[in-house]
This record gives sequence, C-alpha cells and structure tokens, in this order.
Amino acid sequence: MTETWTPTTWKDFPILQQPTYTDSNELSQVLGSLSSLPPLVFAEEVRSLKASLAEVANGKAFILQGGDCAESFSEFSEEHIQSMIKVMLQMAVTLTFAGKCPVVKIGRMAGQFAKPRSADYEEQDGVSLPSFRGDNINQLEFTEDARLPDPNRLKMAYHQSAATLNLLRALTRGGFASLKNVRQWNSDAIDNNALSEQYGDLSSRIHDSLEFMESCGINVDDFSKLQGTAIYTSHEALLLDFEQAMLRKSDDGWYDLSAHMLWIGERTRQLDHAHVEFLRGVENPIGVKVGPTADVEEIAKLADLLDPENTPGKLIFITRVGADGAYEKLVTLFERMKQLDRKIIWICDPMHGNTVKASSGYKTRKFEDILSEVQAFFRAHKTAGTWPGGIHLEMTGRNVTECTGGAFNVSDEDLKNCYDTMCDPRLNASQSLELAFLIAEQLREKDKDIGNNSNEVRYSN
Ligand code: PEP
Ligand code: CO
Repeated sequence: MTETWTPTTWKDFPILQQPTYTDSNELSQVLGSLSSLPPLVFAEEVRSLKASLAEVANGKAFILQGGDCAESFSEFSEEHIQSMIKVMLQMAVTLTFAGKCPVVKIGRMAGQFAKPRSADYEEQDGVSLPSFRGDNINQLEFTEDARLPDPNRLKMAYHQSAATLNLLRALTRGGFASLKNVRQWNSDAIDNNALSEQYGDLSSRIHDSLEFMESCGINVDDFSKLQGTAIYTSHEALLLDFEQAMLRKSDDGWYDLSAHMLWIGERTRQLDHAHVEFLRGVENPIGVKVGPTADVEEIAKLADLLDPENTPGKLIFITRVGADGAYEKLVTLFERMKQLDRKIIWICDPMHGNTVKASSGYKTRKFEDILSEVQAFFRAHKTAGTWPGGIHLEMTGRNVTECTGGAFNVSDEDLKNCYDTMCDPRLNASQSLELAFLIAEQLREKDKDIGNNSNEVRYSN
C-alpha cells in the first residue's frame, strides 16, 4: 500500500470482479459526465450518520441495515420502495420500543446494483457468456447482446438511485414516518395473524403514549425526532470506476457521495488489492464483510488500513460466517479486536453464510439458520464483553417466498409461488418483522445481564 492516497491510486493495485467494457471511449464519456452530476447524497448527511454510528460503537445504539440483494431496473416502483420502507420502520420501532435501544437505519438501496460473481462466465447448453453482474452493468437475459457490459447502464442506475433517494427522503421526512402513523406502517404483506396482533399491540401502546403526552399538554409535533426519521443508504462499493466518479472533495477530505455508507464484499477485501486501497481514502463509514474463513490477524490489519485513527463510528465489520460453528468463530474475532482496543462496530449478516439449495432446486435460506446465527452473534458478544452493534439483512417489504420457515412456515414447495429476487433469497415482510421481534428479545436479555450499574460504561469495543 502506498503512503499517499489519491482518487486514482487504486488503479495501481490488482482488482477483482470488474466487467470488461468493449468501448473504453464510451466508458470514459459516461464516467466524465457522472463526475460532473450532482452527488446522490451530501457530505453533511454522511457526517451525521458517522455521529450516530459513534453511538453504536459506544454500545448505545443498534444498526438495522437491510434491503434487496440486488436492486433491479424492472422492479423499480413506488410500491416496491414504499413497502420496503414500511417494513424497515416497523422493524426499527419494534427494536426501539421492545428492545429499548435507539436504532440507526441504513437501506441496502439507492445504488445496490453491482454483484460479485463466483465465475466470470456462465455456461448454458454448451454456450458460454459473460456472467450477469447487476443491472448497472449488463442484463440477466442469456443472450450475447444482453450480457455485454454497457456503460450507459451506469447512468441509468445513477438516475434510478436519485429517484429512489427522492422518495426515501419524502417518506422519511414528509410526515409518513411520524410516530403518529405507527399503526399505518402495517401492511397486507404481514400475513401472519399472530405477528399482526403482536405489532398491533406494540403500535397501540406507542399510539396511546403519544395521546397521553398530548393530554398532558405536550405537543408531540414540537419534537422533530418523533416527526420523522433518517434512513441512510448503502451499497457494496464494487465497481470502482463508478465509485471514483462519485467522489467529491469537501473541507475535511474526500467523500464517496454515491451513498452514505459503503462496504467491501467478502470477495474483494484483500489487503493488497484495489478495493481496500480506494476505500481507505474516503471519509464515509466503511463496512467490510467477514466470512467463515477470515484470518483474525488479517482482519486486524484491515482495521489498521481502513481506520488508522481508531475512530468510533468509522469501521463496521459485517460478520457472515454461517450458523454452523458461528459462536466459536465470532468469539475469536471479538476477543482479539477487543484486546487490540479497536473501536469496531460489529454487525451480523445472517444471510450470506446460510445459503442452501432446496429440494425444489431453488437457492434459499432457512429462517431457523438465520435466527441461529443471530443468536450465536449475541452469545459471542456476551462472552467477549463487546456490543452487538446491529443486523444486516436481505429483505423486502413484499410477500415473496424466497426463504423457508418463519411463523408462516414457507416450505420448499412454496418457494415457486413468488420467487422474484434478482440474486439472493430475501426475507419477506412477515419474516423480517418476526426476526425484529426475536432480536428485540435478545436486546432485552442483554439489558438484564448488565444489572443495575447504569452509570458504568456498558460495553467497550
Ligand atoms: C451481498 O451482500 O450481497 C454479498 C455478495 O455479500 P458477501 O460479500 O458477504 O458475499
Ligand atoms: Co446477497
């Protein structure tokens, strides 16, 4: 790694998972125009996210990060975004009220298009074509034309992200996300009666508390925190040409203003490769996926590179180790980083280590495995004396059948009924809310363990 960082030093390092564009002039033109367009988010918003994340690093808040595995051009609609936001608001209020913990909300949205692939080429009936890498690069359809990477798709993705952010800001700040509307966030997609009742009960209690405050003469409308909320955006910073085009210089350094938070995927987090080099130079909070085979000393070196100043709220390790043996692997990681006095935020991605093939042939994830990894994550933090900082989910507000199990009990046979994902299987609205209730329980349990010493610093990471 060179000492000096510039927006282009990443080009001197080996790089994985990039498309091969056939017309480099066309690519340069598109990138040039992207770099002069308005940024998708603003540096000041990134700074407020970092301030909220510092609270998480200090054991005082919890992150809910979720959304599609891959956003798509065809699934883009008001209904799709609104249903996702509704379920995120429901989950967040559940975690805050039942789990008694402030929640920082981050969507995998408004830019989560590019996908790493296990092979560069896909073969069907003896024909080999470039793999599908996400709607911002090429098309899913298996034809030569469709699979050709097209730079203009980067611009289409930019505009879709801008429109998504527009709706996101309107819904979160324009009244819809006011706690007064807590009962309206429930949707028909929550098709499990027991769960609807549980949420109905929780939202009625919040509603009654607000009414009580008003009866006491307290005007709830005076409190901006009850009037709306922030849902920040994030995606895997995979396609570095695009990310470079979205860099903007601010007084305190370079920001990648394609999203508030960016993460490095499990396949591209090599210490001496381009992704780590690029992201070490930006001011945004950075996530790194940590898989089951991660070497703990390598993870420590990543922390040195990406967060040399050990700033609370800067670095998020997103563990995705799979339910099997999760507890042991996680304890080792948490304890070592604690020993090094690292201000890490740990969040649990219980999706990517638990993908299996169902008997019906579909790629799926079992709700019980997802829950089991989440529980191991909480237990491991309890052992290590570190703070369980949050959860990272692939989810949707719609009533899809992509993951099995949950209270509604989606079976292998049900998967075909509504299997819509562009890439990995997502939790549907009911499964997501059910998981939020179960995580709230885990958060409450942790409170019990802390005992009465409320003046002490509860956790140190
Ligand atoms: C993802 O988050 O969609 C993904 C590809 O994850 P990972 O890098 O952990 O495999
Ligand atoms: Co995925």
